[in-house]
Amino acid sequence: MRRKRVIANWKMNLPASGIDHYLAALAAWQISDMVVLTVAPPFPFLSEIKAEADVLGVRCEVAAQNCSERPGGALTGEVSASMLRLTGASTVILGHSERRAMFGETSVRVAEKAVAASAGGLIPIVCVGEALEIRDSGDVSGFLCGQLQDSLSGFDPRQELIVAYEPVWAIGTGRNATPEVVAEAIAAMRECLNTIFSEGKAGRTSIVYGGSVTAENASELAAVAGVDGFLVGGASLDAAEFRVIYDAVRKAI
Ligand code: PGA
Repeated sequence: MRRKRVIANWKMNLPASGIDHYLAALAAWQISDMVVLTVAPPFPFLSEIKAEADVLGVRCEVAAQNCSERPGGALTGEVSASMLRLTGASTVILGHSERRAMFGETSVRVAEKAVAASAGGLIPIVCVGEALEIRDSGDVSGFLCGQLQDSLSGFDPRQELIVAYEPVWAIGTGRNATPEVVAEAIAAMRECLNTIFSEGKAGRTSIVYGGSVTAENASELAAVAGVDGFLVGGASLDAAEFRVIYDAVRKAI
């Protein structure tokens, strides 16, 4: 059975309560072996959070929000996957729509990063999702499959992979996708994964949903067939709200 994942994507934010309070709150949670808890802070806080979580006994993984597609070299401002691994990070979010829209990341580059992440010892969380124009124009499944195919080009199917379905129109807008939309998109993405790789890869790949997940809608979305958890932005900055979301996934098993 695939493990579920609940990932806090802090983006370029820190919890208002401060990191210490946030982690102390997480230490009191009931963590299931079947639902991996992950915190993805900005780069400078990775080591600190990993170390503090270990001291407090918080059973969480730490994820980076990006990595270079190169292993090293004269690349000012870049951070390699193996360097991130040294901070204690075990996963990395790649191809988030904010990076695609604001930093010009193409699917080709996302694919290079996914390969580099695996080579550097990180599990990539590859994000795909359609913009509103594509949803309105019809062929969402075709778009998602194309984006997945391009973003996973060259990826070794034997390596562990996490995929996030993040419709662009639902991110940070307060407008979450409906259970029907999520179910349909994730089913299409699983079929596509089996086409890209060999039969069976989809069954081994966790697919999480992201886009305005909150304490209010988490139970309904966690119950959707094929959803293996959530990538949570805004609502992950408040430990109390994030706990409700984590518990919704834990209880949906
Ligand atoms: P949101 O962000 O939960 O604030 O919509 C999700 C994401 O961008 O991963």
